[in-house]
Amino acid sequence: TRHARIHPSILSADFVNLEAELGRITEADSVHVDIMDNHFVPNLTLGLPVVQRIQQVSPIPLDVHLMIDEPDRWAPGYAEAGAASVTFHAEAAAAPVRLARELRSLGSRAGVALRPATPVEPWLDLLAEIDLLLVMTVEPGFGGQAFLDVMLPKLRRARTAIDGSGAEVALQVDGGVTKETIVAAAEAGADVFVAGSSVYGADDTAAAITALREAARG
Ligand code: DX5
Ligand code: ZN
Repeated sequence: TRHARIHPSILSADFVNLEAELGRITEADSVHVDIMDNHFVPNLTLGLPVVQRIQQVSPIPLDVHLMIDEPDRWAPGYAEAGAASVTFHAEAAAAPVRLARELRSLGSRAGVALRPATPVEPWLDLLAEIDLLLVMTVEPGFGGQAFLDVMLPKLRRARTAIDGSGAEVALQVDGGVTKETIVAAAEAGADVFVAGSSVYGADDTAAAITALREAARG
C-alpha cells in the first residue's frame, strides 16, 4: 500500500499556545492550517499574519487549507509566506487554473478542495495543474464532526482518475478522520490524512499520529 502521510490540524490545538502545540506533532508529515473567513464557511479562524509566524517557528511544513471567498486574491500571500502547499476551494475560485499556476510559480504546491456536494468529475481535466486534491469528508467549518462515509465512492473515482492521468497528485481527506475511519479512506485511495480532534484530543499526540499511520496501512 502507499505511504500514508498524517497532517494534524491545528484547528483543534490551543490557539493561545500555538508554538507549544506545534511541538506536540513533530512526528507528523506536515501541519494542516485551516483558514476560515466567516463567509465561505460560518466560522473564523486565523489569517496571514499568524500563518507567517507559524511558518517561522514550525519544525514541519505547512499545509494551508483556505476555506475563504476570493482565493484568487488571497491564496498567493500564503505561498509567499512559505507554505509547502496551499489548497483553495473549487467552489470559490474564479480562475482555478490561473491560481494554481500562480501558487506553483511562487514555489508552493497547489491544491483544490471539494465540499461534500461538489462532484469531482469536472476537475479531472485539471489534474496536471495541481499537486493535491482534497475530498472533504465533513462540511467544512468545524472540527470534531463525523466522517461522511458517503464520500468513499468519490474518493475511489478520484484515485482511479489520478492513477490513470499519470500526474503526481496527492489525494487528501479532511474531516472526521480517526483510527477507525482512516481504514476505509485509505482503502478508497486517499494517501494524505488530515486529523484534528483525533490527534490534538489525545494525551499522547505522537502515539495518536503513529496509530493513524499504522491504521492507514491496513
Ligand atoms: C474542517 C477543517 C478540518 C478540521 C478537521 O472544516 O477543514 O481540517 O480541522 O477536524 P477533525 O479532524 O476534528 O474532523
Ligand atoms: Zn482543513
